[in-house]
Amino acid sequence: MSKHQKLNIGLFGFGVVGQGLYEVLSQSPALDKAISKICVKSKKNRSLPDKLFCYDADDILNDPKINTVVELINDSEEAYHIVKRAMQLGKNVVSANKKMLAENLTEMVQLQKEHKVSLLYEASACGSIPVIRNLEEYYDNDLLLSVTGILNGSSNYILSQVFDKNQAYGEALKEAQDKGFAETDPTFDVEGYDSLFKLIILTMHSFGIAVDPKEVLTYGISNISDFDINYAREKGFKIKLVGQVERLRENRISLFVLPRFVGKDKYIYSVEEEFNGVVIKGLAYDKQFMFGKGAGGHPTGSAVLSDITALMHNYRYEYKKANYFSGFQYSKDHAIEIYLRYSDADILRHFDFQSVSEEYKGPVFAYKIGFIQLSRLIEILPVVKRHNIFLAATGKSLNY
Ligand SMILES: NC(=O)c1ccc[n+]([C@@H]2O[C@H](COP(=O)([O-])OP(=O)(O)OC[C@H]3O[C@@H](n4cnc5c(N)ncnc54)[C@H](OP(=O)(O)O)[C@@H]3O)[C@@H](O)[C@H]2O)c1
Repeated sequence: MSKHQKLNIGLFGFGVVGQGLYEVLSQSPALDKAISKICVKSKKNRSLPDKLFCYDADDILNDPKINTVVELINDSEEAYHIVKRAMQLGKNVVSANKKMLAENLTEMVQLQKEHKVSLLYEASACGSIPVIRNLEEYYDNDLLLSVTGILNGSSNYILSQVFDKNQAYGEALKEAQDKGFAETDPTFDVEGYDSLFKLIILTMHSFGIAVDPKEVLTYGISNISDFDINYAREKGFKIKLVGQVERLRENRISLFVLPRFVGKDKYIYSVEEEFNGVVIKGLAYDKQFMFGKGAGGHPTGSAVLSDITALMHNYRYEYKKANYFSGFQYSKDHAIEIYLRYSDADILRHFDFQSVSEEYKGPVFAYKIGFIQLSRLIEILPVVKRHNIFLAATGKSLNY
């Protein structure tokens, strides 16, 4: 490869992020003409000439002049095949598809090695915030203790509206969709899966292991009620949807996505609307905070642009934590403190609380706050999700 590689880009997807990228690119004169073809799903009126568009992935993949594929589609199965084939054909790839990446991380790392290509995906986690590149390059030592953050712009936008502006949940969700923050399928955002997939990617670049998303406790905000909001307000908290990966003793790590009570003393307390915020905690430097727009066409397009320019300089992730540090193990054997709001006390038989610090029983709702083993929560979640309950972490944990 030459020192500054000339890129000839085949773009997949011309939706929120694809168009955002195109607009951001057109403000970057050096790269203005780099996109030679755009593959989309269906014929419709577009803001660009018809001759730029194609509808068959092979038109890009089999074009030997195209050396770079930028994958920005909303179908993770199809994205998997496109990204895999592009790498097998020796093309470098930029992707924003967190679901596809998180579900196939080990294979994606292997494909890069095998075919000596680079796959970059900064836009897949926290939109415009350069968190992956920083974890890989700056936090490339073993001082890292935890990465905690608001990783999903859409649910944060909804919580901001519901919590601070007293808007109804459904109304706030519709607004997030109208503004282009929400994914095509909103359950992806509000049930915590979007945050989960990002957390899986961040975990790879923080601690070097690809955790199976199906193994991780993931609970979202769709069951939040006025009762929960009032409880949090009375205690001086906000409720945020938080993803966290944390180093425990003996090279174990723990990760989960849960709504969390957040006090004024926390950096993420003031992260509102569609913004994301990531707190990186380390042994020598305590806490550092990265903040920025986590969704939307232009912010996400900027992260994609940054990956594209990084490819011009032949950049690739070295997966330093996986390659140079002793193996971490994913662990579910410690207890975290949760708030459980319920109405039917029968639900309590599923929860083996190790200790309870606070409880309340009212005419309609009741709650309990106590410690419970992470593995137990994972086990009962599919059952308890069918009931009218709400869970939130207090931020405390035991048995490190
Ligand atoms: N929206 C955000 O703020 C955001 C932030 C970070 C990451 N992301 C990620 O970025 C990706 C794109 O999201 P988006 O919001 O831009 O989606 P979107 O607005 O729904 O657009 C999706 C685009 O993909 C095209 N497409 C779908 N299936 C295709 C296929 N099989 N072959 C070719 N094109 C196909 C669609 O074609 P048509 O135009 O013909 O329908 C459309 O242009 C997703 O992975 C998402 O998770 C989004």
